[in-house]
Formats: sequence, C-alpha cells, structure tokens
Amino acid sequence: MPVLSFANAKGGAGKTTAALLVATDLMDQGYSVSIVDADPQRWISQWAAMSGPQRRLSIIDEVSAGSIDSVIREERDNRDYILVDLEGTMSPLVSRAVSASDLVLVPIQGCAMDAKGGGKVLDLIADLQREERRTIRHSVILTRINAAVTTRALRAVRDHLQANRIDVLTTPIVERSVYRDIFESGGSLHTLDPKTASNLDKAIDNIRRLTTEIVTRVPVRRRKQPSWPTRAWLQAA
Ligand SMILES: Nc1ncnc2c1ncn2[C@@H]1O[C@H](COP(=O)(O)OP(=O)(O)OP(=O)(O)O)[C@@H](O)[C@H]1O
Ligand SMILES: [Mg+2]
Repeated sequence: MPVLSFANAKGGAGKTTAALLVATDLMDQGYSVSIVDADPQRWISQWAAMSGPQRRLSIIDEVSAGSIDSVIREERDNRDYILVDLEGTMSPLVSRAVSASDLVLVPIQGCAMDAKGGGKVLDLIADLQREERRTIRHSVILTRINAAVTTRALRAVRDHLQANRIDVLTTPIVERSVYRDIFESGGSLHTLDPKTASNLDKAIDNIRRLTTEIVTRVPVRRRKQPSWPTRAWLQAA
C-alpha cells in the first residue's frame, strides 16, 4: 500500500510534525498506518509509547539503509499507508526511503534556508529518477505558515517552486501550538480537550484538508477479493 516519506535535509523543517499529524488523521479516517521512525530523535516512538497501543497503528523504530526495503515490503502487505519520518540530513537511508516511496513529501517552511534543504531532496529525487528511469512522485508541504500574513520570504519560496514546476500541496500546515501539544500529551488532535486546546477545530480542519490532498494523490488500492465461486471451490465441488 502507498509509502509516504517525509524528507528535507534541513533539520527542524517540520517533517516529524507533518508525519504524525497526517498519520493520526489517516487513522481517524479508518485507515491502518505504519510509521517507520527513522528520525534519530525518535519523537514518534516516544509519542507512541505515551499514547498506548492503537489498533490501527504500528511503529517500526529500528531501521537502516540495509533494512528499509524489506521493512517497507513487509508493511505494504499489512497496512493501508506506510509513513517514513526521515532524519534531517542526506544519507543512504534517505536515498533508499525516497526511492521506495510512492509519494515523497517535502515539508518546507517559508524561508530560504528550509527551501535549500528541500532543494537537496528535490535534487536527489531528480538524480534517482534519471538513474532509475522512472518517476518518483513528490510534493512540497509548506509548514509553520502564519495564518494571518503572507511574508515576503514565503512568497519568494512559492515563486521559486512554481518556476521549477514543483508540485506544492494547496493546503499548508499553519503554525499552531496544538501541533506541538500532541507530542507532549500523546493521542491526536481528536483526543485533545477543545476547552484547553486553542483553535482545535481549525487545526483539525487544516490537517483533514492536507490529508485529503495526499489521499487523492496516492489512494489505497484495496486488494481484490476472489470472485465467488472461486476456481478452487469449483474444482473441489
Ligand atoms: N505547524 C507547526 N506549528 C507549530 N510548531 C511546529 C509546526 N511544525 C513544526 N513545529 C515545531 O518546530 C520544531 C521542529 O519540527 P519537527 O521536529 O517536526 O521538524 P523535523 O524536520 O522533523 O526536524 P529534524 O530534522 O530535527 O527531525 C518542533 O519544535 C515542532 O514542534
Ligand atoms: Mg524529525
């Protein structure tokens, strides 16, 4: 089932936050999800330990460049979506994960430094596409966007991406404290207390719109059920 990796060579671009928000929203929509935690900080594994066991979720936190392909192959058979949260650097593990992805999501904050880190991943994708003579789908997610103002830096990043014909998801992730809160409380936006979490309904709507764009790009293809009666059944009869 579809593999989504979150990659940006710049540390702190918002990969882990985006991965967890998308994963928890997919689960809320009834999808089963595996998260491959390849971030050395292990934020998602810590979040999972705090949140307790969840029926629709599995976490894989021991992964290397040598094992990522087999981990993904195995999880593909078990889960609707596999999300890979990558480290904020370029490495053989990042290359392998990008190559094995159905959609690479590149979170970029509206600033030049982040765009440069994202640019490295976009260059890597271009190299892999040339080497492997196939397309690796990829989209930028703009992150930590100020809901009220569009800064000059953000406009410059958007123009640059557009000029280079990079797919940018229409829905950015807005800067919101609740997106940090779930790492401290465990659970998801849907389990936070609306009385204490500010603008929770807006936050949930923001992430649902984003997830809808992602699911539209890489929908789950349900395995075909054998038609009835099966050939084996007819032979046995
Ligand atoms: N939309 C957001 N609103 C508020 N805070 C955010 C948002 N996105 C990210 N942050 C905060 O920014 C910091 C970096 O985010 P995050 O850890 O997701 O980045 P990362 O790309 O995974 O970093 P690394 O490269 O170190 O793994 C964290 O403190 C996180 O809480
Ligand atoms: Mg991270």
